[in-house]
Amino acid sequence: MVDVTTSLTFSDTVSGKAEGDVLVVTLNNPPVNAASAELRQGLWRALDHARSDNAVSAVVITGAGKSFVAGADIKEFGKPQVDPTLPAVVEKIEASEKPVIAAINGVALGGGCEIALAAHARIAHSKAKLGFPEVKLGIVPGAGGTQRLPRLVGCLEAVEMIGTGKPVNAEKAFGIGLIGAIAKGDLLSDALALAQSLKGKPVLRTSERIAPRSDQATVQNTIAKITLKAKGQMAPGEAMRLAASASTLSFTQGLSDERETFLRLRDSDQAKALRHVFFAERDAAKVDGLEHVEPLPLNKIGVCGLGLMGAGIATALLSAGYELIGYERDEPAAEAGKARILDILGKNLKSGRIDQADFERQAANLATTAKLRELAPCDLVIEAVFDDMTIKTELFQKLDLVIRSDAILATNTSYLDPDALAAETAHPERVIGLHFFSPANIMRLVEVVRCAQATPQAVATGFALAKKLGKLPIVTGVCEGFIGNSIFSAYRREAEFLLEDGALPQEIDAAMEDYGMAMGPFAVFDLAGLEIAWARRKREAPTRDPEARYVDIADRLCEAGRLGQKSGRGWYSYEAGKRTVDSAVTEMIAQSRAAKGITPRAIASEEIVKRLIGAMADEGKTLLDKAIAARASDIDLVMINGYGFPAYRGGPMFAASR
Ligand code: 3HC
Repeated sequence: MVDVTTSLTFSDTVSGKAEGDVLVVTLNNPPVNAASAELRQGLWRALDHARSDNAVSAVVITGAGKSFVAGADIKEFGKPQVDPTLPAVVEKIEASEKPVIAAINGVALGGGCEIALAAHARIAHSKAKLGFPEVKLGIVPGAGGTQRLPRLVGCLEAVEMIGTGKPVNAEKAFGIGLIGAIAKGDLLSDALALAQSLKGKPVLRTSERIAPRSDQATVQNTIAKITLKAKGQMAPGEAMRLAASASTLSFTQGLSDERETFLRLRDSDQAKALRHVFFAERDAAKVDGLEHVEPLPLNKIGVCGLGLMGAGIATALLSAGYELIGYERDEPAAEAGKARILDILGKNLKSGRIDQADFERQAANLATTAKLRELAPCDLVIEAVFDDMTIKTELFQKLDLVIRSDAILATNTSYLDPDALAAETAHPERVIGLHFFSPANIMRLVEVVRCAQATPQAVATGFALAKKLGKLPIVTGVCEGFIGNSIFSAYRREAEFLLEDGALPQEIDAAMEDYGMAMGPFAVFDLAGLEIAWARRKREAPTRDPEARYVDIADRLCEAGRLGQKSGRGWYSYEAGKRTVDSAVTEMIAQSRAAKGITPRAIASEEIVKRLIGAMADEGKTLLDKAIAARASDIDLVMINGYGFPAYRGGPMFAASR
C-alpha cells in the first residue's frame, strides 16, 4: 500500500496524492487547466510513476478549479512543438495496464475531452460540460477525438458534437454514453469507488471498441445541414468527415488521417483568423480604466419604448433574470409592447430555448406602464425610443427627475450624440450608451458607449450588464455611428464608388458573399431600408464638401420610390421575397455614370473585396487614431458580431493586415 499521506509533484501544474492504492493526479494550471507543455510533461511523469510503482493499482485524473482540462494550450499553436505531444499523452493514458479514471470536475473541452476519452472510465460532476470546440478555432480534434468519440457514442452524435463544436452537459453526456456515470455525492469519492471496482480487471480501451451503429442516411443528412450552416469554413466538413469515417476505417487509419488534417488546418489562414477572434474576445473584456471598478448591482431595469428594439432588449433582460418595467407613451402602446414581449417569450418556449417554468418566471418579472414615475425603483433604465434628439432629450430630462440619482441612464441611439443627451440631464455622469443590434434578444454585440462625463462605474455597470445577458460588449468612444456604423458607412461609400466605377450591385454582392459576408452590401441596404440614409444625406447636403466624391445613385433610387425590400424594390426587385436583378436599376446606374462622364470598366471580384476591406480598415485606423476604439481587434469583433463579417476571416482589420 502507498502511504496515505504521500504527496507527489510531477511538475508545477501536476501533482499526485495516494489515496490508498489509487493515485489521484490533479491538474492545476490556472485559469482553465489548458494542456500546456508543462501539464503534458507532468501528466506523462505521473503515468510513468503509476506504471512503475507496484503500490498503485489505479489512477484517477481530475482537475483543480472549474475546469477538468480546457483543451490544448491555444497559445502554443504556431510555436515549435514541445514533447510530449497531446496525442502521445493520450496514447499513454489509454495504453496503461492499470485502470485510469477521468473524474471530470468541470469543463472538458477539446484535448481535455480527448484525455477523458482515453481513460478507461469517465465519471463527471453534474455541472460538468464536455465538448469539442475545435471547429470554432478552425481546426479538428487532433488527439484522437474524431476516432474515439464515435466509438463511444456512435457516428451520429459524434458528427453533431464535433461538427458544431457545441458542448453537452453531464446529463446529455451520460445519455449518449460519453461518460459512464454522474457523481451522486462527492466526485472524488465516487471516482475512488469506481477505481476500486475496476482495479485488477482488464482495462476497456475506447480505441478497441466498435462504434455503435448509426443510420448512415441520417448521418449524411446531419453532415449536409451543418455544412450548409458553416458555409465557407473548412474545419466543420473535415471534422465531420473524420468522425463519420470511424464506422469504416480502422482506428489506426482514422487516427493518421486525423493527425494529417489537424496539422494542415492548424496552420491554415482560417485557423489563424479564428485564433485571433478567440483572443480578441478575451482582450475585449480588459477595458482601460475599468480594471478595478465594481459595477453597480442591478435588479430592476426599465426599458422605454417597446417597439421591435425595445421588446428585444426587454426579452434579453427577462431571460437573464432581471425584473423589468417597460414604459410606453400611453396604455394601448404599453399593452401592445407587453404583447410583443410575451410573443417573443412564447416563441422561445415553442422552440425549446426555455421551458414552461422559465416562461412563467420571465412573464411574472414583466410589468408595463404608461406612467414614467413607475420607473422610480429602477437601478438602470435603457431608452429605445425613436432615434430623434428632441424625443430622447425630453424623455431623459423627465427620467432624470424620476429615477434615483445613483441609477444609470442608457441610450440605445445608433447615430445621435449621447454626450449632447447627457448634457441635457442634471446627472450627466450616469449617462452611457448601450447600443444593441436588432433583434436584440438574438444579436450578440452590444456597443457600450463611454460618454465623456460618465463615471467608470456607470460604464462598468453597462459592460457587466451586457455580459450578464450573454452578449459581447465592446467599449466605444463617442462619434457619429460609434465603431460599427462608422465602419459600415465607409463600406457603403466604397461600395457606391465601385458602382460608379463599373461594378453592378449584384457583382459587388456576389464578391462579398463569396468572401463570406452573410449578405452583400446592396442586399443589406435593401433589407435595412434606404430612407434613413437618404434622410441623413439630405440633412448633410448643405455642409457637404463640394470637392469630395459623392455618388447620387442611391438618391435617384429613393426618389423613384425604391426604398428597399419593404417597398418591394430597392437595389433589387423582390417578388415573394426573392431578390432579382432589375434592369431599371442597371439603367439608372448607367445614366448616373454618363452624367458624370465616367466610362465604366470591368472590375474583378478580387478588386471589389480588396477595396471594400481596405475602406473598412482605413476607417478603423481613423477610429483608433481618435481613440474611439481601444484596439483593432475590438473593431474586428464589432464587424463580425454585428455586421455579418465572416469570423474565419478574422475581421476587417485582421484581414487587411494580412
Ligand atoms: N488555451 C490557452 N488559453 C486558454 C484556453 C486554452 N485552451 N482556454 C482559455 N484560455 C485563457 C483565455 O485566453 C483567458 O486568458 P486571459 O485571462 O489571459 O485573457 C483565460 O484562459 C480565461 O478564459 P475565459 O475568459 O474564456 O474564461 P471563461 O471562464 O469565461 O471560459 C472556457 C472558460 C469555457 C474554458 C473558455 O475559455 C473556452 O472555451 N476555452 C477554449 C476551449 C477550447 O477551444 N479548447 C479546444 C482547444 S484546441 C484543442 O484542444 C486541440 C486538441 O484537439 C488537440
